[in-house]
Amino acid sequence: MTRQFFVGGNFKMNGSEKAITTIVDNLNKADLPKNVEVVLCPPYPYLAQVVAQNKQSTVKVGAQNCYCKASGAYTGEVSPDFLKDLGVDFVILGHSERRTIFHESDELVADKVKFALEKGLKVMLCIGETIDEKKAGKTLSVCQRELKAVVQKVKDWSNIVVAYEPIWAIGTGLTAKAEDAEEIHADIRKYLSTVIGKQAESVRILYGGSANGSNAPTFKGKTNVDGFLVGGASLKPEFADIIKSRQ
Ligand code: G3P
Repeated sequence: MTRQFFVGGNFKMNGSEKAITTIVDNLNKADLPKNVEVVLCPPYPYLAQVVAQNKQSTVKVGAQNCYCKASGAYTGEVSPDFLKDLGVDFVILGHSERRTIFHESDELVADKVKFALEKGLKVMLCIGETIDEKKAGKTLSVCQRELKAVVQKVKDWSNIVVAYEPIWAIGTGLTAKAEDAEEIHADIRKYLSTVIGKQAESVRILYGGSANGSNAPTFKGKTNVDGFLVGGASLKPEFADIIKSRQ
């Protein structure tokens, strides 16, 4: 099964109007491969700007979060409808920083995924373990627990991209070895096939955690690593190298 290579750029709470203009301008000028799906995820205030400035047909825009309601007394929250109004196509949900810093439960993440899909957004669903869970041999069981919460509410996974982001590799420069990532991605796909059936073969599973222009090529040939969800390096010119890393 060949799955389209996918590279997401999660700017996190970084950037400025000027800096993001430069990032998108550089990407507009880059000779990007036409067979790679790219999603730029700037902070909320810059979503409209990136949608308007983007000129690459293979590049879409995503938000870094959204709520599981359309409207109402939820101060500070953002509705999927607002994102659709802006021309946003994707949303990152369940990022480990949302789960740990902002205490989002598996249940809340699952409700957000269900609602975002119902509202026509595509979802990058993040899963991954802490260093203690890894040391305790719980990597797969943590990923299964996080996926199961979504499986219980969502049966159609055609608009979900899974991002396996070992928390111990996020922002640390400690990238998982390509062969280790391939092993856990294969286990994740195997688990998915037991709960969503044949769809599991089509679900893209991205790697995230200190991916950059120099280590991305080492993942080439890893058949269950279908792309990357990139943090820090998405703000740098090497982001284009990651997009080209499967050529
Ligand atoms: O969502 C991607 C992010 O968590 C990875 O961050 O900076 O380690 O590439 P980074």
